[in-house]
Amino acid sequence: TGMVTVDPGFMNTASCESEITYIDGDAGILRYRGYAIDQLAEKSSFLEVAYLLIHGELPSPSEHDAFVERVNRHTLVHEDFRTFMGTFPRDGHPMAVMASAINALSTFYPESLDPFDDETVELATVLLLAKSRTITSYLHRRRVGEPLLYPDYSRGYVEDFLRMTFAVPYMQYDSDPTVVDALDKLLILHADHEQNCSTSTVRVVGSSHANIYASVAAGINALSGPLHGGANESVLKMLTEIQGSGTTVQDFMSKVKNKEDGVRLMGFGHRVYKNYDPRAAIVKKSADAVLSTLGKRDELLDIAMELEDIALNDDYFIERKLYPNVDFYTGLIYKAMGFEPAMFTPLFALGRMPGWIAQWREMMKDPQTKIGRPRQIYTGATQRDYVDLSAR
Ligand code: CMC
Repeated sequence: TGMVTVDPGFMNTASCESEITYIDGDAGILRYRGYAIDQLAEKSSFLEVAYLLIHGELPSPSEHDAFVERVNRHTLVHEDFRTFMGTFPRDGHPMAVMASAINALSTFYPESLDPFDDETVELATVLLLAKSRTITSYLHRRRVGEPLLYPDYSRGYVEDFLRMTFAVPYMQYDSDPTVVDALDKLLILHADHEQNCSTSTVRVVGSSHANIYASVAAGINALSGPLHGGANESVLKMLTEIQGSGTTVQDFMSKVKNKEDGVRLMGFGHRVYKNYDPRAAIVKKSADAVLSTLGKRDELLDIAMELEDIALNDDYFIERKLYPNVDFYTGLIYKAMGFEPAMFTPLFALGRMPGWIAQWREMMKDPQTKIGRPRQIYTGATQRDYVDLSAR
């Protein structure tokens, strides 16, 4: 018992102590295990960052190679799993398929379920990183009706992901190094973000000792919402609507400010950042670079930049400290790479995988962990007597 206070949206409630990710929302700082996000995005690689988040330290060269090799070796999925991936309607939303596929991994790898055995947890970690890459490429292949390709162990994680996603069978495929680098960077930027909605979901589900696949699948479902990871898809939809509607960017912004029909500027605002999201700053630069290297001019980028420009100089956004978040420019890069909008949030999920795993593992080891079970303040009817159906 004791005093219970309501804190909707957990604005002011810390659910755990964590050593993984540091955010200073007022200063716009993000660090993984003490390393600044811009250094990691610039110099590291996705699997190295995954190792850092999960194990707490940057790997030595031999640890790095062993980890990469182990993940690579597990990228092949069971043939029955390929069949399973083929049973969803082709135009079903890939986030639903992805959550189902990750959940289903527990049935294919029952030897990886003990949450209290270190080696088993490490196996599940590697399986999740490896299979999620294959699953994400299959999400795209299924939508476009192309055959599901097998992995090529000799290629890097991101490089082979792009090949499995975009290559045509029996044809040489060489991915553009600019695209490989840009996607690697994007995955790093998404790799963790402390106790956001999906990560908190992963922790709450895991706190019941549900297995890691069930916990991460729940996180994927949380991520799918447009206020969270689904925002990257919504941003593109918004930009396309502005482009097609004939209304000016100014008119759209008036609608946002007047809160007409609950319209929000998607890709703007954040619970923790009250300054420019450091990830968005990196993504914006990358968007410019990728689009120009690929020679793809996109009028939607001009619309996005115009929206940002207006927002950053407008009292509505200044007073509320609303800045572009990570989702504002990512879709334009994914689009230039050849992904359709429905694939944007699965790419976010692929990137967030190391964070969910690291947070789940930290929670399972933390002696302070208890089952997640918030309290409430009851506001319903007080005691009443049952009235028989015939008497109502
Ligand atoms: N456009 C217009 N107004 C906004 C926006 C926006 N994008 N975001 C917040 N506001 C307003 C909101 O209406 C409120 O105004 P008022 O004080 O007059 O009621 C004020 O700003 C505070 O907003 P809030 O909803 O109380 O803030 P929150 O911390 O609960 O929500 C958020 C954070 C990210 C859900 C919200 O900013 C939002 O809906 N943004 C658009 C969706 C989006 O881009 N989500 C991605 C988040 S970043 C990474 C990720 O998780 O994927």
